[in-house]
Amino acid sequence: MLNTIERMIISVDEIGQRVRELGAQISADYRAGAGRDPHRRPLLVVGLLKGAMPFMADLIRAMDIPLEYDFMAVSSYRNGTSPGEVRILKDLDCAIGRRDLLIVEDIVDTGRTLHRILKGLSAREPATLRVCTLLDKPHRREVEVPVDYVGFVLPENLFVVGYGLDYAELYRNLPFIGVLKRREA
Ligand code: IMP
Repeated sequence: MLNTIERMIISVDEIGQRVRELGAQISADYRAGAGRDPHRRPLLVVGLLKGAMPFMADLIRAMDIPLEYDFMAVSSYRNGTSPGEVRILKDLDCAIGRRDLLIVEDIVDTGRTLHRILKGLSAREPATLRVCTLLDKPHRREVEVPVDYVGFVLPENLFVVGYGLDYAELYRNLPFIGVLKRREA
C-alpha cells in the first residue's frame, strides 16, 4: 500500500503540532464565549464521517473544555476523485437548538459538502455554528463556505490521502498525509 504513495506532504509530527495548536485555540475561543453565558450547554463537536474520524479523535483530546461529540455521515464522492451528489447518510442523534456546534471536516474542496451540511444545521437554529477543517483547498472552491479553523492550506491542486482521507476507501489509516502516485492510462 505504501509504495503507491508518491510523497509525504505533511508528516506525523507536523500534524500533531498543528492539532495541538488548533485544540488550544478552539478551547480558548469557546472558553471566552462560555464566560459570557454561564448557562450555555457544553460545546457539541460534530465529526463528518468517515474522513474526519482520526483528526477529530486527536483534536478533542487537544481541547481542555467540556464538550460532547456526535457524528454525521455524508457521501459526496461516489468512488474515486470526481464530485457527486451530497447525501446525508446519518444525522445527529440529539437536538441542537441554542447549542454551540463545531463541525469537524477532513478537507474542504469545492465546498459543496459543507454548504449542504451548514444549510441543514443552521435551519435547526444552533446558538453558534463554526467549522474546523484539517485541510483546505481554497483554489478549488465552487461554493463559498465559512471556515473558522484550518489546519493546513494545500498549496497545489493535489489529491491527498491518509489520516482519514481516502482513495476508494483505502489509505485512511496512514498516519501522515501523502500524495498518490498517478497511474499511467
Ligand atoms: P467538497 O464537497 O468538494 O468540498 O468535498 C469534500 C469531501 O471530498 C471531503 O470530505 C473528502 O471526502 C473529499 N475530498 C476532497 N478532496 C480530497 C482529497 O484530496 N483526498 C481525499 N478526499 C478528498
